[in-house]
Amino acid sequence: MAEPDQIESTRRIQTNQPSSIVLSPSIESSIKSLKALFLTPPEILRAITDHFVNELLKGLSVKGGNIPMIPGWVTEYPTGKEKGDYLAIDLGGTNLRVCLVKLGGDRTFDTIQSKFGLPLDIRTTEASKLFSFIANCLSQFVEENKHILDLKDGHKLPLGFTFSYPCSQKAINHGVLQRWTKGYDIKGVEGHDVVPMLQDALNELELPIEVVALINDTTGTLVASAYTDPKTEMGLIFGTGCNGAYFERVDQIPKLADQNLKCEYMAINCEYGAFDNEHKVLPRTKYDIIIDSESPRPGQQAFEKMILGYYLGEVMRLVMVDLHEEGVIFKDAKDTKKLYEPYILDTSFPARIEEDPFENLSDVQEVVRELLGLETTREERELIRSLAESVGERSARLSVCGIAALAKKRNLKECHAAADGLVYNKYPQFKERAAKALDDIFGWNLPMDQHPIKIVAAEDGSGAGAAIIAALAQHNSK
Ligand code: BGC
Repeated sequence: MAEPDQIESTRRIQTNQPSSIVLSPSIESSIKSLKALFLTPPEILRAITDHFVNELLKGLSVKGGNIPMIPGWVTEYPTGKEKGDYLAIDLGGTNLRVCLVKLGGDRTFDTIQSKFGLPLDIRTTEASKLFSFIANCLSQFVEENKHILDLKDGHKLPLGFTFSYPCSQKAINHGVLQRWTKGYDIKGVEGHDVVPMLQDALNELELPIEVVALINDTTGTLVASAYTDPKTEMGLIFGTGCNGAYFERVDQIPKLADQNLKCEYMAINCEYGAFDNEHKVLPRTKYDIIIDSESPRPGQQAFEKMILGYYLGEVMRLVMVDLHEEGVIFKDAKDTKKLYEPYILDTSFPARIEEDPFENLSDVQEVVRELLGLETTREERELIRSLAESVGERSARLSVCGIAALAKKRNLKECHAAADGLVYNKYPQFKERAAKALDDIFGWNLPMDQHPIKIVAAEDGSGAGAAIIAALAQHNSK
């Protein structure tokens, strides 16, 4: 039987605190076994990291491997002196961001931006509709900002296009989509260069804009952060998807050897969401296997599917379905329809559950009622809270194996790893858990603020980053 709503309750000081109530044996044993299921002890993280380093090396080899390690054609660290006005767009999971970035040339920048909500069916629309939607948003932005844009005859506004999906790039203004990720499935784009697709849609509306650079969000993050903070060596996204970019020495990239490049460095968009697609080291649970097999692209993005935003709520839902069918939770529920709806719970579900500060977990009660239409007893809430903690903790701990592997690969002893994305910025305790996991891997045994490899909040990658890369591209083409 569900309990009556409690009006008052004391505050729980922090999460991960043992509950003060006596739990029934079935709840207690479920909590224990789920904790064990999602556990990632230091030795597992170290084994994953070692395998990760080998996979990064394979990705750079001529033969290639699971991790694509895509050259991003940004061939120098920014100097901080890049200057000028650039347009930048970022096609995200839920909106299209359009910016005008004014690079100051002195490691500073200003941004004017608009956000456009994406149509609900965007993930499965047609290619032409996607690109004409983007062009229309840009047209509106240009119209609204015409008083500050350089629209003199014949001048084309340079645009950096942040497109955060794996694209093979032969040049900075080129990118063939290898495959959609993060639940996108728009026909007619995979296998095609997305730059002319966007340029054609812009030309159709006679907009004076030239797409000068195609940028992955990680590369943008890397470059934007390096522009303001020279200690930056990695750009990372922990959002709907996960990925990292870094600067590699060109003489360490065998697959570029035949190009006789003159540059010393090349930004690499690792696309390491695809790490361990062969399932050799990641401790997959049956829930990860279901998520993968029911996704639009089974067998791909193994790492991403275990840890990042788009999947956290779904892992929790699948576990709760099992717990319900085993008779552990929601025993008297009359209508469990929502519980059986795939992807009904986004990342805000575990996040809100972990954030509940109250001893009686009244916020958990509210969230479960609101999103699943189900009532909970106090001990069910304890179980759901503990599950959210296990899933959230696993996500943060596994995430940093990518950082550790890049640091080992480049032999970086001290640096800043610039991170962005909803999970990094908003998920409760992600930063602390990630830092602790990095410490576990390297064995520093130091407080977070003294870590030699520090995960820091990134600068605006898809705005400033895209603009700086567009500036570098223009400079290099002159
Ligand atoms: C994409 C990457 C992107 C990452 C973070 C992944 O699904 O393949 O290109 O960087 O998500 O947005």
